[in-house]
Amino acid sequence: MLNDIEKVLLSEDELKKIVEDLGAKITEDYKGKKLVVVSVLKGSVVFMADLMRAIKIPCSIDFMAVSSYGSGTKTSGVVKIIKDLDSEVVCGSDLLIVEDILDSGVTLEYLMKVLSARNPNSIRICTLLDKPERRRANIKADYSGAQIPDAFVVGYGLDYDEKYRNLPFVGILKPEVYEK
Ligand code: IMP
Ligand code: MG
Repeated sequence: MLNDIEKVLLSEDELKKIVEDLGAKITEDYKGKKLVVVSVLKGSVVFMADLMRAIKIPCSIDFMAVSSYGSGTKTSGVVKIIKDLDSEVVCGSDLLIVEDILDSGVTLEYLMKVLSARNPNSIRICTLLDKPERRRANIKADYSGAQIPDAFVVGYGLDYDEKYRNLPFVGILKPEVYEK
């Protein structure tokens, strides 16, 4: 696996600091609210597991799975719900959507639309990584861990063709791995 990585972009220590800072902000902002943290499967699971432990107020968690990619490195632009939330969005809940990366924004635009229609008290986005150069939809993260350049990255939950999610850091994948 390591041979396929061109460069480490965020080390384990850097990720730890980013997640602690995000958790502290969320803890402050959601005091007294009915926080429901919604992880978007599968890419955000590693981030989610660390982030929820950095949040120091009561919260519940739920998961959604969507797909827009197939096995390539570019979005297809078509988003499909593969798994919906287990719980109903109850009156007064404050949803925080947790994503691994905000790229074109097509996935989050769709999720925001679907979840807003269920009338939560509030809905915000927390993304670990943001690639602003590639944005196609009008979507901005309320909480963002790090802005990264337009390169395909893997690790810490992010995959290429379902591989590399278990790398403990975020690294740029060598283009020759997917330009075959
Ligand atoms: P968007 O709809 O284009 O914003 O894409 C969001 C989804 O695409 C993310 O949740 C990721 O699963 C995937 N994605 C986008 N860029 C990358 C990348 O650089 N590496 C791995 N997955 C990515
Ligand atoms: Mg993915």
